[in-house]
Amino acid sequence: MAQRMLVTMALPYANGSIHLGHLVEAVQTDVFVRAMNALGRECVYICADDAHGTPIEIGARKAGVAPEEYVAAIHAEHDGDYKAFGIGFDLFYTTHSPENEAHARKIFARLQEDGAVDKRDVMQMYCPTDKRFLPDRYIRGTCPVCSSPDQYGDSCEVCGSTYEPTDLKNPRCAIDGNTALERRSSPHYFVRLSKYQEWLKGWVSSPGRLQPEIRNFVDKWLAEPLRDWDVSRDAPYFGFKIPGEQSKYFYVWLDAPIGYLSSTDHWCQEHGRRVEEFFGKDADCEVMHFIGKDIVYFHTLFWPAMLHASGWKVPARVHVHGMLTVEGAKMSKSRGTFLNAREYLDAGLDPEWLRYFYAANLGPTPSDIDLSLTELKNRVNGELLANVGNLANRALSLIWKNGGRLSKVPSSDFFDKARVIEEQIARDYAACDTRSLVQRVLGFSSEANQRLQQKKPWELLKGARDEALSELTLAVNVARICARWLGPIVPKFTEGVENQSGAELKWGDFEPLEDLAIREPKPLVRKVEDADIQKLASKFVAPEAKAPETPSMTIDEFGKMDLRAGRVLSVEKVPKKDKLLKLSIDLGEGAPRTIVSGVALSYAPEELVGKVVAVVANLPKKEFGKGLSSHGMVLYATGGKREHTAVELPADVAPGSKVK
Ligand code: 2FM
Ligand code: ZN
Repeated sequence: MAQRMLVTMALPYANGSIHLGHLVEAVQTDVFVRAMNALGRECVYICADDAHGTPIEIGARKAGVAPEEYVAAIHAEHDGDYKAFGIGFDLFYTTHSPENEAHARKIFARLQEDGAVDKRDVMQMYCPTDKRFLPDRYIRGTCPVCSSPDQYGDSCEVCGSTYEPTDLKNPRCAIDGNTALERRSSPHYFVRLSKYQEWLKGWVSSPGRLQPEIRNFVDKWLAEPLRDWDVSRDAPYFGFKIPGEQSKYFYVWLDAPIGYLSSTDHWCQEHGRRVEEFFGKDADCEVMHFIGKDIVYFHTLFWPAMLHASGWKVPARVHVHGMLTVEGAKMSKSRGTFLNAREYLDAGLDPEWLRYFYAANLGPTPSDIDLSLTELKNRVNGELLANVGNLANRALSLIWKNGGRLSKVPSSDFFDKARVIEEQIARDYAACDTRSLVQRVLGFSSEANQRLQQKKPWELLKGARDEALSELTLAVNVARICARWLGPIVPKFTEGVENQSGAELKWGDFEPLEDLAIREPKPLVRKVEDADIQKLASKFVAPEAKAPETPSMTIDEFGKMDLRAGRVLSVEKVPKKDKLLKLSIDLGEGAPRTIVSGVALSYAPEELVGKVVAVVANLPKKEFGKGLSSHGMVLYATGGKREHTAVELPADVAPGSKVK
């Protein structure tokens, strides 16, 4: 294991505010870095704003300012928000930096020298009024597969098909609504990723590199020839010009991860260090990236391939966390659950509450976590305050009122136990399993609280003062150990225990702290009041409160729909269609039907097998091409933890039964 680590989280786009979803990653990464440093490793935490791309260029244009000015203002806002949540970056830089341009150019040149870059013409949609090529998200139209209106240029949200923007029917520009679009060809640069495919297979297979769930995904991508990657974009664009080109830029996803390297380089220059100490091919350093599920492809294929081709150190580990839901559903602007960091702070809530809540919920897997404000209140008040906080505060307050000095600890096995638990906690931190370690801390603290309850030093103080002070000294010592274990999660709380108990907290120190003056105890963290969570909850809009958006229909119209119960017999993925699942469904007709659903991102195939679901049975057959046709439609609800939740019927409803 290398002593040195370079740790990053995904670089936030400089075109919007930091929200509570961003903070899951920022907190998880910050906790990890603080823990590694506390455990004696040199762990440097680097981040930056991801400052390039079409949305930023358009955002700046709309705001009437230069993109440089636009991203600088957002950088200042991001910086303030992260600081307020105690995110202790060693550097929070930007990808719009001279170092990043230099590194991007060099890496691109190395890919060219390696023979991995092709230049070829690409047919794209062009908006003559905006005078720009329209990337996928800037073109809308009718799905060429299922004819659903108002779909993006790259994929249909209704049937899940992916296609080329030039295939879209009735296309229109998403910026100005122009429908008189042109098809224009322009030369683009492509990285032939398949050149590194065998190397990538070796890279992903190294133990500890990826979590098993993520490895499964990546293995599937690697089982097929990797697609060439278009790394260029036409002007107007905000980014770095490709050398030798007048109006072509590096695609934002080329220079964004290079921002990890170039920001480290900047930090090294400011600290008299060399970037090679961290990213040098043979450096005694582990590079680790924390990311969300949506950007795995970039970090497990493009980025390691770029580093490998250009002779830099490749990541030792990519850690993927789950997404945040709020009160059981995807964060949503219309429901008011899309909460910004600033809104949380402005409501007067303590950032350490959220840090504690996230850490207590985050485990080592990429499972999603849910922010329930009631749970936040119960956990902070019932665990952090009532357990560890209470142990420290009760013992310190009684000592303060009775001379203000620690005495000698009684004989106990607390310190031996702590030695064992600390090793487990160190392993949990390294595995990003804060959920587990919080439970270990609470368990240990509970034992000390129980002992206090039994010994009742507040009563002993009347007749057996020495024994009372001795018990209280033990309680302070256990609280100090628990506080140091929680330090990476709630640093201010820990600092409070450290200051009030009168001596520095050190990992690996199991010598009792005795015969020492303490300082006046103060509350370590404020209690969460109902009024606090109400301030955030008042922003939530119940879905029922929304006015219905769909037109009404008659009962006769509804009667035309033949709704049936169907039992899902088997489910398969559809090759090259990331979002589609092919279901074989028994509708009581003798032979099962094939029904295609665009829900592969919500369900693993095996999760649907055996379910009895609601099916619209009287739709005409729909062809998906390549011999795939779908006869009927399975109903799914939106607004749950998954993007699509199958509408299930009780298991005893026979296949083919009418649903009415
Ligand atoms: O998905 C995003 O929010 C990107 N801005 C993350 C970039 S991470 C890195 F590659 F720069
Ligand atoms: Zn479609």
